[in-house]
Amino acid sequence: MERTRIFVTRRIPEAGLTKLQKVFDVEVSPFDRNLTPAEIGEMAAGAQGMVSIATDTIDRELVDGLTDIKIIANYAVGFDNIDIEYARQKGIPVTNTPDVLTQATADIAMALILCVARRIVEGDRLVRKGGFKGFYPMFFLGVELENKTLGIYGMGRIGQAVAKKALNFGFKIIYHDKISHDGASLGFSARYVSFEELLRESDFISIHAPLTPETHHRFTKEEFKKMKNGAYCINTARGPLIREEDLVGALKEGWIAGAGLDVYEFEPKVHPDLIALDNVVLLPHIGSAAIEVRERMSVVVADNLIAFFRGESPPNKVN
Ligand code: GLV
Repeated sequence: MERTRIFVTRRIPEAGLTKLQKVFDVEVSPFDRNLTPAEIGEMAAGAQGMVSIATDTIDRELVDGLTDIKIIANYAVGFDNIDIEYARQKGIPVTNTPDVLTQATADIAMALILCVARRIVEGDRLVRKGGFKGFYPMFFLGVELENKTLGIYGMGRIGQAVAKKALNFGFKIIYHDKISHDGASLGFSARYVSFEELLRESDFISIHAPLTPETHHRFTKEEFKKMKNGAYCINTARGPLIREEDLVGALKEGWIAGAGLDVYEFEPKVHPDLIALDNVVLLPHIGSAAIEVRERMSVVVADNLIAFFRGESPPNKVN
């Protein structure tokens, strides 16, 4: 009997590939780069399942072109790159990779918080340039984390993991989300506040909401103006939650003190003015980029495809 064919748009770790290869005929894109939608359409022809990555734009047009595809397993927790509603209408389930990357992504958010607060990357740059002339009381001051207020926008899995880590650093936690979890259901101390209060009261705001039409440009000039002048904005979710132009303006005008970013509005492009600013720490979208995590993500996509082609409901279906 002919084996089911799976197309993988970009190489993923061996753990998942091996698992897939035991059951399916697997074709991995031979290119060492991300594919265009047209290339995905062409290369997925004849495959019944597909593994996509977060940078693959799978819009209506491409969904229409994927005539043989019966399931898309997205190698990411976010799935804003796929028109999941249209895929659902076309009877194509889409799956994601939650849980396995929660702690690693929360670690990156904490790393950015520490970096901006204590000027870690800036300090490294200074030492390398020969700028360290010795300790003195007023030299290179940042802010401490103890007793500061961390405002979490989006208290899902990753938001909660950040909150728990931040509590150990002495932060007070407030959060805003579509739903208010009571303290008991969260299992730790965090206060639900309105979006306005989150902006006004936070010393650090860390963004952990998915990108949807409602969250697109949730942070613009208006929001930055309401934040404390000494506040920092951290984004490890998706770039377009922030209108990057407005963030640049807020940093230049001193409406906020700094930013730590792992994601960008026009990724992989980074606003040139962000690059020029010292009070900004810029990472190359590495929230889940730990060997163990990426391996686990590859196993999750394999498990979803295997379950689906066995006739079961894939465990991480999102549509
Ligand atoms: C990466 O950004 C992901 O959504 O997993």
